[in-house]
Amino acid sequence: MLLYLLLAISLTNVNGQIDPAHCRYPLGMEDGRIKNDDITASSQWYETTGPQYARLNREEGDGAWCPAGQLQPSDVQYLQLDLRQLVFLTVVATQGRYARNSGNEFARKYRLEYSRDGHRWISWRNRFGSEIIMGNINTYDSVVRDLHPPIITRFLRLIPVTDAVHTVCMRVELFGCAWQDGLTAYSSPEGQTMMAPGYPITPLNDSTYDGALERRKLSGGLGQLTDGVIGQDDFVQRRQDRLWPGYDYVGWRNNTLGPGYVEMEFQFDRQRNFTSMKVHSNNMFSRGVKIFASVSCVFKLHLISEWEAEPVEFHTVLDDRNPSARYVTVPLKHRSATALRCRFYFADTWMMFSEISFQSATNVLPTQRPPVLTPPSYEFNSKAPQTTQKTEDQTTSKPGPLEEGSTSILIGCLVTIILLLVVIIFLILWCQYVCKVLEKAPRRILEEEVTVRLSSSSDTIILQTPPVPPRVSLDPPYERIFLLDPQYQDPAALRNKLPELSQSAEASACSGGYAEPDVTLCTPHQCFQSSVPHYAETDIISLQGVTGSNMYAVPALTVDSLTRKDISVAEFPRERLLFREKLGEGQFGEVHLCEAEGLAEFLGEGAPLPEQDGRPVLVAVKQLRADATSNARNDFLKEIKIMSRLNNPNIIQLLCVCVSSDPLCMVTEYMENGDLNMFLCQREIESTLTHANNIPSVSIADLLHMSVQISSGMKYLASLNFVHRDLATRNCLLDRHLTIKISDFGMSRNLYSSDYYRIQGRAVLPIRWMAWESILLGKFTTASDVWAFGVTLWEIFTLCKEQPYSLLSDEQVIENTGEFFRNQGRQIFLSAPPLCPSSLFELMMRCWSRDIADRPTFHRLYQALRTFAPHS
Ligand code: ADE
Repeated sequence: MLLYLLLAISLTNVNGQIDPAHCRYPLGMEDGRIKNDDITASSQWYETTGPQYARLNREEGDGAWCPAGQLQPSDVQYLQLDLRQLVFLTVVATQGRYARNSGNEFARKYRLEYSRDGHRWISWRNRFGSEIIMGNINTYDSVVRDLHPPIITRFLRLIPVTDAVHTVCMRVELFGCAWQDGLTAYSSPEGQTMMAPGYPITPLNDSTYDGALERRKLSGGLGQLTDGVIGQDDFVQRRQDRLWPGYDYVGWRNNTLGPGYVEMEFQFDRQRNFTSMKVHSNNMFSRGVKIFASVSCVFKLHLISEWEAEPVEFHTVLDDRNPSARYVTVPLKHRSATALRCRFYFADTWMMFSEISFQSATNVLPTQRPPVLTPPSYEFNSKAPQTTQKTEDQTTSKPGPLEEGSTSILIGCLVTIILLLVVIIFLILWCQYVCKVLEKAPRRILEEEVTVRLSSSSDTIILQTPPVPPRVSLDPPYERIFLLDPQYQDPAALRNKLPELSQSAEASACSGGYAEPDVTLCTPHQCFQSSVPHYAETDIISLQGVTGSNMYAVPALTVDSLTRKDISVAEFPRERLLFREKLGEGQFGEVHLCEAEGLAEFLGEGAPLPEQDGRPVLVAVKQLRADATSNARNDFLKEIKIMSRLNNPNIIQLLCVCVSSDPLCMVTEYMENGDLNMFLCQREIESTLTHANNIPSVSIADLLHMSVQISSGMKYLASLNFVHRDLATRNCLLDRHLTIKISDFGMSRNLYSSDYYRIQGRAVLPIRWMAWESILLGKFTTASDVWAFGVTLWEIFTLCKEQPYSLLSDEQVIENTGEFFRNQGRQIFLSAPPLCPSSLFELMMRCWSRDIADRPTFHRLYQALRTFAPHS
């Protein structure tokens, strides 16, 4: 039930953005959460038809609200509701006066006016400009109308409309959810119209903006950027339910605005502490549209104070490869403000936004009394209001007798009480058990007090294995990824604190079969690797890739005394690398697509280059930024050293390097089809439909073949005792023949930044792919790679359409990790992808076994997957 609540709340607010499809909860007319005092009217016929009787499906008083006298076509009578807080309103339901079959009045039409501040009233119009909403046709059916666009408001007036003289009465319910952004207005330059030869005219104005337009500037209102509707990738394609192509976007052309940026101001209901801003932005670069290059925001603490001098600035990573529209998340560094002013700098001719949302916490208590929006008692779509059945836009049905209404209230109360009890019991258990068991660890992670301590001042995490005989100590011999607390720096101290953790660590550590950086835990499998040094003789070094993430754990014998001279891979003359385009960018460098003149001859026969057919040799060149720190340079050289040892058809191949002068470069084979995540995301599962319509597709056999290849590459890495640490579809590349090669270019850290959890702005962790012991103990082994492989399989069979645990926030993922550790059946597993054969899902589930002994080895995974895909 708790999960249900969790999901219900998160469903309305997926990844911090409101989702109108799920924001459809009754706001409290029927069940009384909207109090009588907050329901007023311009007039009432009798005391017994006052506004307090305007509750849907209720039969109190004379059965409805009825304005005084007969309604003339020119009359404006209204029922007014104060929702006590800003609400994202998506649906209105109305009923007439049934009054146990004695009523005869209803509103055939009505319109809405709303106000966020109680002063300025705005008439609602649908996207076609009409104010009129079709109402009831009898006294008893409730008619449910979706609001397109939705309304963000606190006050609402329902105004019955009539063409002839009539008596009208109404009962109503509103549906929606709390407007957590708290944004009350934004201002911006007016959107412009795109006119390009060969393309339809594309007006990119804010067509539902409810503020003022003066001198080409919008101010004081909200509109398309907050309607929860995101635009399509190819905005020129017209959607049937839209008035014109590009309708969902607001867009501006560079240079017409002068300074090369668009300035927007955002006002909020109260002072808030801002974590981030998410901007849904188009990136159709082939049409001159790109996400913004950078943004700079200044903050104002109070309405009357000055703008603070220090801005928050954020530079995006531009992407010339993937034209998908995307959310760009701008960290706002927990700055407090009631207003923000942001300048979005152009990266191309056009900038087009369809949605802007803010993630913040309120640090000032609201002055009004508590909001009516308690957690939803039921979801509108799945369990419609009593006596209401939804058909398309309209719902009609007979009202139930009064007793039914009370029964539903009673059931509602009971459910709420049970829920409360469950929550209380859960909290007690949580405190007694979890707080004791995991003590500060998860709590501190949640509080974001975690810091990362890397063993030197560099970004390199050095994992030292003490030269002690086997089984002297069970402590993982490497540093924590999280420095949770000084006592947790010491794994033994952690174990003493967390006896269960200690047991499990012991159990997992002893379970064998996996490469892990622990001298005490040599398994037969590891010990018999004649070419690989025994762990007892090695220091383990983990590399944080220079351009981002590369974190193979390798025997240190391979990297000690590393100098440029030590690098055995051939030095290629850099002037023969001709830049073609940028493939990606990371914190410390960039990856470029280059033409390598004469590389085939340079490498000689047997070089791992694809057939050239007279075409130039294309390579991917990873280049260290000129201003990189010396630590970053060292790591880059180490990464080259490691990569030069890898030689497998399913691992990206290092071809040559340019390290005799700056900037340092490593040259790898170029993978024409980019990364697997993007590749699958842009495809559908093969069917007659995809064939008939020429839609890019993949078959289940293709997916299995991909899985086999990844398991094969990982089997190879495991055989060398390499721990990858960041296996995911984003780190698998595809060549022109769709061969998959595992890589780990830190570029993905930027393009897929939402896949990584940032700790105090320093380390980034792919928590959704990480085994529980990696998150809680900082323990990375081949067994944790197996866990990540399970998640990678899951990604493959969901065609990368969804992020793992997409309904959970990062914090909830970490909490779930604690549940995996406790293993009491409360952990949330990824669910079986619809495309996935059940036996394959069982294999995935085994990868997520709590005890590492229960996880399959890559060898077994490879064998098992081959039986699914016999032609691999
Ligand atoms: N992006 C990063 N590395 C790449 C490669 N080797 N080929 C294609 N795209 C890449």
